[in-house]
Amino acid sequence: MATKYDADSCLASGGVALAQLFERAPTPTYVYDLDAIDAEARELRAAFDGAPHVVAYAVKANTAGPVVRALATAGCGADVVSAAELEVALACGIDPERIVFSGVAKKDEEIDRALAVGPRGIAAIQVESVEELQRVAARVRARASASRRARVSLRINPAVDESTLATHRHIATGHDEAKFGIPFDDVPVALERVAAHPELELVGLGAHVGSQLTSTVAYVEAARHVFELARSLRGRAALRYVDTGGGFGIDYGDGCSARPADFVRAVRAEQRAMGLLDLELFVEPGRSLVAAHGVLVARVIQVKVARERRWLMIDAGMNDLLRPALYQARHRIVPFTRPAASTKVVEWRVVGPVCESSDDFGLHMLPEDPPNHVAILDTGAYGFTMASQYNGRALPAELFLKEGRVAHTSSASNIDAWIASRVSM
Ligand code: LLP
Repeated sequence: MATKYDADSCLASGGVALAQLFERAPTPTYVYDLDAIDAEARELRAAFDGAPHVVAYAVKANTAGPVVRALATAGCGADVVSAAELEVALACGIDPERIVFSGVAKKDEEIDRALAVGPRGIAAIQVESVEELQRVAARVRARASASRRARVSLRINPAVDESTLATHRHIATGHDEAKFGIPFDDVPVALERVAAHPELELVGLGAHVGSQLTSTVAYVEAARHVFELARSLRGRAALRYVDTGGGFGIDYGDGCSARPADFVRAVRAEQRAMGLLDLELFVEPGRSLVAAHGVLVARVIQVKVARERRWLMIDAGMNDLLRPALYQARHRIVPFTRPAASTKVVEWRVVGPVCESSDDFGLHMLPEDPPNHVAILDTGAYGFTMASQYNGRALPAELFLKEGRVAHTSSASNIDAWIASRVSM
C-alpha cells in the first residue's frame, strides 16, 4: 500500500505526510503516488521473464496525464475504450503498436481515428461482435487512402461460469449473458467474415472475464479457451498476440491472495503448455496498477448524532467516488494520525453531502473525537474517472507525488463555469 502510517503514526503517501500536505490543500482531493505506480508496473512486467509482451494499461481506471505518462515510461501500452482515451494514451507517449481499442459499440469516427494513427494504425481494434467486423471493414473502404488494412483482434466471450468469478455482478463481463465479446458459437462465423474481407487482418485473439478477480482460476480457464482457439488457427492466421485481459484484484482490506504477477505466471505456464510461446502475450490491467496508489482525502464537515447513531459527514460524496454506491464496494477510511491505544474509537457511519441514501461509505471505526480529515484508501482506480458533477458539485482536485514531493496538481473543476454552462443556454 502506497499510503500507510509512518514511524510517527502519521499517514503518509509516497513518503509525504498527508497532515502536512493538507494544512493548505483543498478537499476533496485525490492523491497519487507516481513512484509506487511505476514500481507496480515494473514488477508486473518482470513476471514475463523477458518474453515478448504488452501490459496494455486499461486507461479507464485513471486517465490523469501524470499517471499515464508514468506507465508509458515504465514500458506499458494501453487498452482504450474511446477516441478520447486513445488521444490521452498517444499524448502521454504510448507507442501505437502497444495500443488496443476495446468496447462493444465504437462509433464510426472512433474507428476512423484508430485507423488513422501513425503509419499502420494502432496494434488492433478489438472486435466484440460479428456485426462490428463488418463495420470496421466498411470504415477501411470509406477511407480516402484505401490502401491500409485494419488490424483486428477477436474478443471472445468464454462464457466462464459466473460463480467462479467471485466478483460483483456489475463488473463480471465474461459470463454467458454479458454484452461483451463474441460468443464461442459465433467464432466460426466471425472467422469467415474476416476471411471474406480483405480489408481486415486478424492479428490477435483475446478475452476479459471481469474485474477484481481474487483468484487465478477463472482467469486461466478463460485464457485456455483463447489459447485453444489460437492453436486451432495455426496455418490459417498469422497471429501476433493472445490477450488474456485485465481484472487482477487488489486487497481492499479483506484480502487478495493472488498478486498481479501470479496471474501472468499462471497464464504463461498455460501458454507454454499449449506451445504458443511464439505469440506475444497481452494483458490489460487497470485497477491493479493504480488503485492502491491513490487515496481520496476529505474534510469532516460536521457530525450528526441521532437515534443512537453517529454520522460523520465529509466533503467527498458519491459524485467523487461512486464505487460504494454503485457496487456496494467498501474502502477503508482512516484518520491522518494513527489512533493511540488510549484513544477511544467508535463506529461512525461515514457519509457524503449528496442527496441520495446511497451516498454512504459504510461503517468505520474512527476516534470518538472526530478527526478534521480522513483518507479513503485504495481509490487510485475508478475514482476520479467515474466522478460526476451531480448535485452541482465540482469534480475533485488531484495531486501527484513523486520522489517525496508534489510533482503535479490539478484543481477542482470551476463551479462558476458549471453554473454558467447550465444557465447560459
Ligand atoms: N480490459 C477490458 C476489456 C475491460 O473491460 C476492463 C475493465 C479492463 C481491461 C480492466 O479491468 P481491471 O484490470 O481494471 O479490473 N468501475 C469498476 C470496474 C469496471 C471495469 C470495466 N472493465 C470498478 O470500479 O470496480
